[in-house]
Amino acid sequence: MELSGITRTYDTGAVHVKALRGIDLTVEAGEFLAIMGPSGSGKSTLMNVLGCLDRPTSGRYLLDGIDVASLARSKLARVRNRTLGFVFQAFHLLPRTTARENVELPLLYREEELSWKEIHRRAARALDQVGLADRMDHTPNELSGGQKQRVAIARALVTEPRILLADEPTGNLDSRTSLEILALLQDLNEEGITILMVTHEPDVAAFTSRTVRLRDGLLRSDRRHDALAARTAISNWVDEDEDDAPHTDPTGPGPAAEAAGVDA
Ligand SMILES: Nc1ncnc2c1ncn2[C@@H]1O[C@H](COP(=O)(O)OP(=O)(O)O)[C@@H](O)[C@H]1O
Ligand SMILES: [Mg+2]
Repeated sequence: MELSGITRTYDTGAVHVKALRGIDLTVEAGEFLAIMGPSGSGKSTLMNVLGCLDRPTSGRYLLDGIDVASLARSKLARVRNRTLGFVFQAFHLLPRTTARENVELPLLYREEELSWKEIHRRAARALDQVGLADRMDHTPNELSGGQKQRVAIARALVTEPRILLADEPTGNLDSRTSLEILALLQDLNEEGITILMVTHEPDVAAFTSRTVRLRDGLLRSDRRHDALAARTAISNWVDEDEDDAPHTDPTGPGPAAEAAGVDA
């Protein structure tokens, strides 16, 4: 993805909002990038441009070497459906619709006809990939926040995109659940999917390997760094409630010994 001089101005009557003022950014295949910046700095606008959901006012966007501006609407829709997957903070799942049906949706918008059997098979595989094979027939109100976001990620993966665009995917989740989603994203990135993730939190950006910061529609910094391993963070996780709980038998072997099968 190669952006040069990208601007986006919103014209709402008399007011012109310059949401992006000239962004130069190149993202290579296989990167895991965090996009940070204060509220209103243009993060979502940038994601919409990158995701071909919105066209820039000026500047050039090359995706796989193709100038996105040169593509007709239908061709652009195909690129979007084939190359890109989207994950949002608020999940955007259809209520009263099972996890499997939610994940099948993007396949119904394809121009080539897939058999129902194939559609079911691909949705099941995507749900298995996010660890939800046993929740396929549950509706969103029967799932936790983290499970809902997994369904949304499966829905993004079902078309086998090479790029995943995630706008604050952990914004509605508690810290522990966020780590689990980050571990999943890191796995997908290791399997070769390029990921661009908007986040407010430096703690979340620390699990990516490159952080760019926006301010007032401009790129203010671009830093490559080592990524923390989410799985390691999960295994070191100390549940605060558990930690505060009084030990039932202070002279007993304790939970670690119990887990190891040591008798009292
Ligand atoms: N559809 C829109 N119409 C008019 N102004 C918009 C629209 N979307 C975003 N903006 C404005 O563009 C600026 C950047 O917004 P946004 O990209 O959503 O920022 P962020 O995601 O960093 O909070 C803000 O000033 C916002 O109010
Ligand atoms: Mg936003």
